[in-house]
Amino acid sequence: MTDGRAVVWLEGIRRSFDHGRIRALNGVDLVLRRGESVALVGRSGSGKSCLLNVASGLDLPDEGRVFWDGTEVTSRGQWAALRRSSIGIVFQEFHLLPTLTARQNVELALIGGRDGETRLRVEHMLEKVGLSEMGDRLPAELSGGERQRVALARALVREPELLLADEPTGNLDSANADAVATLMFDLHRKLQMALVIVTHDLSLAKRCERIVTLADGRICDDRMLETVSA
Ligand SMILES: Nc1ncnc2c1ncn2[C@@H]1O[C@H](COP(=O)(O)OP(=O)(O)OP(=O)(O)O)[C@@H](O)[C@H]1O
Ligand SMILES: [Mg+2]
Repeated sequence: MTDGRAVVWLEGIRRSFDHGRIRALNGVDLVLRRGESVALVGRSGSGKSCLLNVASGLDLPDEGRVFWDGTEVTSRGQWAALRRSSIGIVFQEFHLLPTLTARQNVELALIGGRDGETRLRVEHMLEKVGLSEMGDRLPAELSGGERQRVALARALVREPELLLADEPTGNLDSANADAVATLMFDLHRKLQMALVIVTHDLSLAKRCERIVTLADGRICDDRMLETVSA
């Protein structure tokens, strides 16, 4: 459910690579509202990951403006602060730190928190993603799906206002994919967390309230779904 206010507002976003030869984002306007769930779909190379990077300030666009909660965000410093406080990201390639255990990777998101409370939240989140027993393992000692769940735990442990998840169930069997999706949608409802899920899985996309389709760096379809059954 959304209260209609924008959490992130993208206006006229263009991003190209290779001296303009690759136009990854080619004029994207998109408003993500507080508390809504959005599936971002489109063929490989259509610009989905690039769009998440711009919406989280990991990449700055060549042209266009990005607003967070009504205020334009222009500097990398502003974005870094927002990512620490309000944005959770699940990367397509997980980006776990290889020398830290699963538990330490999740803890990293809470640096600066009070010790006892931090420990409880980390354990709770590891339990939620079904990895209580594996907290001491390094990423290299985990399967792809287990790593994916650590990445999700790390993104969610701070209870962000916005979760950007790039194929968060891509490496999971159907039971785990379902558990991970349920966890995301539960927090989405409980915390009014806006949720953007990049996925090729139509059944996951259909659990969202809205489906945005990218093609060649542009939004070619943007529709609300009638029923939500998460
Ligand atoms: N750093 C980069 N340098 C050069 N080209 C890039 C870079 N990042 C992305 N691209 C290109 O931009 C386009 C969009 O890439 P993007 O990663 O956003 O696609 P995607 O929709 O996420 O695809 P997939 O479903 O395969 O993950 C692609 O043509 C890609 O090759
Ligand atoms: Mg991608």
